[in-house]
Amino acid sequence: MDSKIAKADAKHQKLHSEKRKKDNSERKVGNEIFDKLTLETLYKLANQGYIDILNGAISTGKEANVLTGIDKNENFLAVKIYRIATSDFKKMDYYLKGDPRFNIKTKNKRKIIYSWVTKEFKNLTRLYEAGVRVPKAFTSANNVLLIEFIGDETGNPAQPVKNQPPKNPDEFFNKLLVQFKLFVNEAKLVHGDLSNYNILNFNEKPVIIDVSQSVVLDNPISRELLERDINTIVHEYRKLCVKTSFEEVWEYLDCKFFK
Ligand SMILES: Nc1ncnc2c1ncn2[C@@H]1O[C@H](COP(=O)(O)OP(=O)(O)OP(=O)(O)O)[C@@H](O)[C@H]1O
Ligand SMILES: [Mg+2]
Repeated sequence: MDSKIAKADAKHQKLHSEKRKKDNSERKVGNEIFDKLTLETLYKLANQGYIDILNGAISTGKEANVLTGIDKNENFLAVKIYRIATSDFKKMDYYLKGDPRFNIKTKNKRKIIYSWVTKEFKNLTRLYEAGVRVPKAFTSANNVLLIEFIGDETGNPAQPVKNQPPKNPDEFFNKLLVQFKLFVNEAKLVHGDLSNYNILNFNEKPVIIDVSQSVVLDNPISRELLERDINTIVHEYRKLCVKTSFEEVWEYLDCKFFK
């Protein structure tokens, strides 16, 4: 296994030695996801000892790429890199606006994305501390988030439920509801994009991911998002032959905040 960071760094050095006049930090330097700023960030994280080796991509999405990394103690970790060029800033602005933890008054895209990454880091930490099974967040810097790798010891990532439906949907759904209740009542957050795409099937246990858009209950849009999340999972698990309904889930969650 060779270090992509080392290679990337060599490219970075070359870039400097060429003394290019225009310092466009979003310029691509060979690899699509490694613009200059991302490279610098990865390099910094490598120097701080968080990442030793970057492996292949687990997922290449519209807004973020998720890669497997290995730290200096040879543990896997997941490296989520937000792409500045293709991010939906309108959406980010919408979700950040109502969050009392963030006071965003900028139109600067890079600053918005950093707030977005910080938000995902804070949400993950808050959820983890509330006992929700989410990946543990290690650190975030600029557009890069380092989190616990969910997968086996050989580096195979757990699959989203969408790709790997549970063997026993009823049992799995009940485990999911326990997590959902902790999410809302203990962490006091609403996911906002809860679906089988953002629930990993980790040895037949749900692990909830992708919480950048998750909002605090105080956010004026929280109730609408919670209702949408419930509708989505009810729809998806009914398709897997689980007998459930919006009302049943709503009652189970028993969210005092919305009473
Ligand atoms: N901690 C993790 N461990 C293992 N795999 C992960 C982890 N986090 C994310 N993944 C994988 O990466 C995929 C994308 O992650 P995530 O949902 O957080 O990004 P995203 O915001 O949906 O990105 P996009 O919308 O741009 O595709 C997941 O569906 C999952 O397959
Ligand atoms: Mg996702």
